[in-house]
Amino acid sequence: MIRQVGVEEILASYNDAAPLAEASTIPGPWYVDRRIAELESLTVFSKTWQVIGRVDQVEKPGQFVTANVAGEPIVAVRGTDGQLRAFYNVCRHHAAKVVTEACGIASILHCPYHGWNYGLDGSLKGMPEFDGVKNFERQENGLVPVLVDTWEAFVFVNLDQQAEPLRDFLGGLMKRCAPLGLAKLHYFDSRTYDIACNWKVFVDNYLDGGYHVPHLHKGLNSVLDYKQYTIENEDRYCLQSSPMVTSDEDAATGATRKGDRAWYFWQYPNFMINCYEGYMDTNLVIPVDVDHCRVIFDFYFADVSEAQQKYNTQSIAVGDRVQSEDLGICEDVQRGLKSRAYGAGRLSVRREAGEQLFHRLLAADLKRGLGHAAAAAD
Ligand code: FES
Ligand SMILES: [Fe+2]
Repeated sequence: MIRQVGVEEILASYNDAAPLAEASTIPGPWYVDRRIAELESLTVFSKTWQVIGRVDQVEKPGQFVTANVAGEPIVAVRGTDGQLRAFYNVCRHHAAKVVTEACGIASILHCPYHGWNYGLDGSLKGMPEFDGVKNFERQENGLVPVLVDTWEAFVFVNLDQQAEPLRDFLGGLMKRCAPLGLAKLHYFDSRTYDIACNWKVFVDNYLDGGYHVPHLHKGLNSVLDYKQYTIENEDRYCLQSSPMVTSDEDAATGATRKGDRAWYFWQYPNFMINCYEGYMDTNLVIPVDVDHCRVIFDFYFADVSEAQQKYNTQSIAVGDRVQSEDLGICEDVQRGLKSRAYGAGRLSVRREAGEQLFHRLLAADLKRGLGHAAAAAD
């Protein structure tokens, strides 16, 4: 008979108290069990600040951006009063998606299904053919709000009305990023990658302190001083950084990855900021289901003028190559995590402290979340 292992048992199989030299990764079932993915949606993605777009997309009154967070359709829109607000993008009539475009500008939020109109502040303005409906309060049927805030170029929302402020959530990350002058960079273009792996496999791969770089990314490795690579954990972020060296080993990489240092920031749970001189890309890792994720790369440059078009495009191509190298390995790892031969893996003390921070933060959220779910069921 097949014994069904409980979620509590799966969570208990990870020891978050072990020091790095004795620690293991979170075990295989965390990456392949559908119930863990559901628990993450409820307790991680529904309670942490999540990036849904860029500030430059919602600068003017009426500009909006839409996204999905923990499976919920969300819209953020700048009001005529200049205030940025966010809502569940779900019509109060029969639940259609009100704003259907990814981003744009509107004077009213118009539901395409039966034509209900909402103001930019979410209030319900008008419902065609609704005369005679009793006990219906228009004021109580506006779009349901969610918390929204911005930091640097990014718009964040949080589905938890009790959440701590964004600035507290980001903690030391803000101070650590400040000297990089991210505000001087301008959005240029995006790439989206659909990967057949659990979202955590992508994050783990990012947080291995450069461990895989000499083996998997020969081009990138040629511009990094790998031995000097540093790893700092604080609050909910990890900064991996490396001095850079000039190299003609790989011309395209050498020409587009410049400066004294490479800066790779990860903010729990699923957002990364990567900087070189005059360059930034961000990675947003969105779980699709237990063994698929979507990663959105946004590329920013100091100069996005016509004259720089070719250079910037070449720079994105370099990023794209690194990405395709990571993609294959992430999909292999997802298959391996399901293997009966695998339990959990040990961590390199020199390289993999960031992964341990990730696993500990996640374990704390999941255990707390499961406790709440159990208390609610009692
Ligand atoms: S669902 Fe939006 S108007 Fe009916
Ligand atoms: Fe990589």
